[in-house]
Amino acid sequence: MHLLCALLVVFSLSDGSSLHCPRRCSCDSAQSVQCYRLTEVPSGIPPSTKRLFISHSKIQHLQLSNFTGMLALEDFILLASGTESVENGTFKNLNTLKTLELWKNRLIKVPTALPATLEVLKLNDNSITILLGSDFEGLKKLRILELKNNLLSCLSPGMFSSLLSLQSLSVDGNHVESVAGPLPLPNLQHVSMENNKLHLIPSNFFTSLQSLQYVSFSGNFLTRIPVNLPKSLLSLKMERNQLKVVRFRDLKHLENLSHLYLSENLLSSMDGAQILSNLTTLELSQNQLQMLPLKLPARLQKLDCSNNLIQRVTAQDFQDLRDLKHLFLDNNIVSLFEAGALQGCSQLSNLALEQNLLLSIPLRLPGTLARLDLKGNAIRDIAERGLKDLKQLQVLNLRNNKISALDLKALEGLPRLRHLYLDGNPWNCTCSLLRAREMLKAKGTDVRGGQCAAPAERQGESWMSSKKIMRQCEHHLQQAEKSQESKKKSKAEDPSSIRINIDDDDEDYEID
Ligand SMILES: *[C@@H]1O[C@H](CO)[C@@H](O)[C@H](O)[C@H]1NC(C)=O
Ligand SMILES: *[C@@H]1O[C@H](CO)[C@@H](O)[C@H](O)[C@H]1NC(C)=O
Ligand SMILES: *[C@@H]1O[C@H](CO)[C@@H](O)[C@H](O)[C@H]1NC(C)=O
Ligand SMILES: *[C@@H]1O[C@H](CO)[C@@H](O)[C@H](O)[C@H]1NC(C)=O
Ligand SMILES: *[C@@H]1O[C@H](CO)[C@@H](O)[C@H](O)[C@H]1NC(C)=O
Repeated sequence: MHLLCALLVVFSLSDGSSLHCPRRCSCDSAQSVQCYRLTEVPSGIPPSTKRLFISHSKIQHLQLSNFTGMLALEDFILLASGTESVENGTFKNLNTLKTLELWKNRLIKVPTALPATLEVLKLNDNSITILLGSDFEGLKKLRILELKNNLLSCLSPGMFSSLLSLQSLSVDGNHVESVAGPLPLPNLQHVSMENNKLHLIPSNFFTSLQSLQYVSFSGNFLTRIPVNLPKSLLSLKMERNQLKVVRFRDLKHLENLSHLYLSENLLSSMDGAQILSNLTTLELSQNQLQMLPLKLPARLQKLDCSNNLIQRVTAQDFQDLRDLKHLFLDNNIVSLFEAGALQGCSQLSNLALEQNLLLSIPLRLPGTLARLDLKGNAIRDIAERGLKDLKQLQVLNLRNNKISALDLKALEGLPRLRHLYLDGNPWNCTCSLLRAREMLKAKGTDVRGGQCAAPAERQGESWMSSKKIMRQCEHHLQQAEKSQESKKKSKAEDPSSIRINIDDDDEDYEID
């Protein structure tokens, strides 16, 4: 009996939806219809439909009559369907419409007479060349406007004067050469104009943007940071421009600015960023810095100076950066790294120094480091004193250096080491290197060892897995085992000593 009832319910449900659901569409109980591979907006869509999604279709033209009877439509999304034109006023009477997305089509203008109920309008990836004063007229509720990847060449304030609720505006990937101010958008929080052709932002552009928090002008031809940025700003992106200097005096009022992105510019020096007292992230990768920025903000957590021309790292550079967690200095020409230069950075967990000219591992690095990358330097040896106190270190990359021997003691001092990259070094595969290998295996460290460069008869052997070397060294190892054994006994009471599981050695011999 119960079963019968259940079956009846199932039948009536599926019957109901399939009856009213047009071909090539699927309709679900939440008044949502999804269609693919259509040649026109389908007729016979249930009048209660709230969301209509169409993609990968061929619908050249939209017209008013296509939407009659859609009395409850809130979201209309038409993707990748080759749509070229929209009849005047097609959406005018859809007075429940909140979201209109016409992505990846061939529109050359914004559809006319959009309903005042609209909150989200996305026209990305079309061929819109011009915006008219009337395009956004009356859209007092519009919160999000996206016009990415079109062919717009200018923006003037008049076009936006109705948009009193607008929070987010994106015109990335157009050909905008000039903008005029003031932009009358009192609630705008987010503006993005990446990858355009801007040379200058007029000084009155931001006058009426008192809520602005996120700004991106990355990928333009700007030679200076815009002046009169609003005090409310939290994040400023100016990557891939032509900045040669940053005058921090002009930014003094940005007390809440926390993220500043200036990578891929032409900066050769920087001084005085400390005026931005709440800055936590500063990115300066791919500039022409010959030294580290002077007077950095005390709250900085991430500093990226990779891909510059920096030669020296001194204690003075990092004196007050107690909150610094991530420091990227890779791909520079650092040859001098003062001992203890980062001792003040008592939170540092990630240090990238790969592709520099270091001859040794910097001394007295902070004990908080979890990741240390020294790949591609000219380091000759791993000395115990270089790696001392790195009790938190989990990843150590020494790939492509000039190291030929491993100091067992240096590695014993790294209790949390999980990944060790040693390949690309000219290893001298002595039996003492094999002892280091056994210790690393016992600790469970994942090691990329690389190949032997010496002695001649072991050249090209992979020292972490070679059985041949193992056999040749067996005698030495047994000796070492004995001495370890006696050490272990004598240290048995000491809880801080690192336990090496020598009992497992037999199993390890099987690994190739
Ligand atoms: C929808 O528009 C197409 C033109 O794209 C037209 O051929 C078709 O008849 C219209 N359908 C309805 C129901 O109005
Ligand atoms: C559509 O509206 C525009 C103005 O908004 C007008 O110039 C144009 O002639 C109209 N087209 C048709 C076919 O009514
Ligand atoms: C800065 O941030 C604080 C805390 O979020 C806020 O109270 C203050 O209004 C902000 N200042 C400005 C100028 O927006
Ligand atoms: C930014 O720094 C100022 C002091 O310079 C402080 O009063 C303000 O609360 C800070 N804002 C935030 C969001 O931390
Ligand atoms: C390898 O180590 C052995 C033993 O310490 C030493 O005699 C030899 O010179 C080293 N070979 C190279 C190429 O460094």
